[in-house]
Amino acid sequence: MINLATQYLGLQLKNPIIASSSPPNVHVDNLQKLEEAGAAAIVLPSLFEEQIQLQEMGYELPSMFEPSTLPDDLKHIPDMAEYNRGADGYLALLHQAQKAVSIPIIASLNGYYSGGWIRYARLLEAAGADALELNIYYVGSKPHVTAAEIEDMYLKLVQNVCTSIKIPVAVKIGPYFTAMSNVAARLDQVGANGLVLFNRFYQPDFDLDTERVVPTLELSASPELRLRLRWTAIISQFVEADLAITGGVHTAVDILKGILAGATVVMMTSALLNHGIDYLAQVLTDLEILMKRYDFDSIAAVRGQMSQQRVAEPSVFERANYMNIILSMVE
Ligand SMILES: Cc1cc2nc3c(=O)[nH]c(=O)nc-3n(C[C@H](O)[C@H](O)[C@H](O)COP(=O)(O)O)c2cc1C
Repeated sequence: MINLATQYLGLQLKNPIIASSSPPNVHVDNLQKLEEAGAAAIVLPSLFEEQIQLQEMGYELPSMFEPSTLPDDLKHIPDMAEYNRGADGYLALLHQAQKAVSIPIIASLNGYYSGGWIRYARLLEAAGADALELNIYYVGSKPHVTAAEIEDMYLKLVQNVCTSIKIPVAVKIGPYFTAMSNVAARLDQVGANGLVLFNRFYQPDFDLDTERVVPTLELSASPELRLRLRWTAIISQFVEADLAITGGVHTAVDILKGILAGATVVMMTSALLNHGIDYLAQVLTDLEILMKRYDFDSIAAVRGQMSQQRVAEPSVFERANYMNIILSMVE
């Protein structure tokens, strides 16, 4: 009998698969389907910092504003209520989600600035969230803002949230830090209970016919996992925070690799959008078969076996890997 149980953010999970934050998770019937398919926990779609700011100014929807009356950074934000039900609706969604399923529900806030909206984290806690995922997304487009300032902003935000609530906090970050290990270690120190590696950023594209910049969305594929495997394998040796991998997890093989690297859980969105929610049940069955094939009897025993600390040649995660790849192309 394979033991798939794992722990994440102090939550006891029946297996390592979490449905990551995405549009289908706004519908309670989908949350029930995810639970039936075997998801161990669910992250709700994110509520955005800007939505909370607008609500605090007395407006729930951006469309209620005359744009010229808004502060610059709030002028162009779209109405996200259809995606996440808006700042008030989100609390109701959380409440409904908790009643509809028995697996843990993780609320998600997307922001970057440690403003007054942090009180919202308390509301999410009060509304019954089992944990909070903080998706920090800041585009460093201003030439006078330094990397150190941006990192400090992240740390302050995480610290403020962590000290404001009692439920565990996971921090979802992108891969574009020059000193990734240092940032991970400091997030760990300021209280993050989990790190979610990594955000996928959707790059705007150009439409030549209309000469407009258009949003684009391509779902992930398994090769994107490699970036996450490398950093999970490196980071897992020095943080206490649990590591979750998001990005490129599509198959049981991907899941096993993520756990071997040192993650306690993996998250799926693209695979479920591609194949439907029931696919999760198939992946769980495949995972058991795969673990049997490799003689692994529990997730706990597998975890971190291929972290940088445990592999025979730790340099494969650093510059040597680059050189080996180049050599492999030499005839
Ligand atoms: C349409 C769509 C909407 C998403 N919305 C959110 C969101 O609100 N908050 C968030 O943290 N991640 C969001 N994500 C990112 C996913 O949670 C996930 O991290 C990402 O898709 C990488 O995982 P995957 O390779 O399994 O798709 C979204 C992804 C997609 C495709």
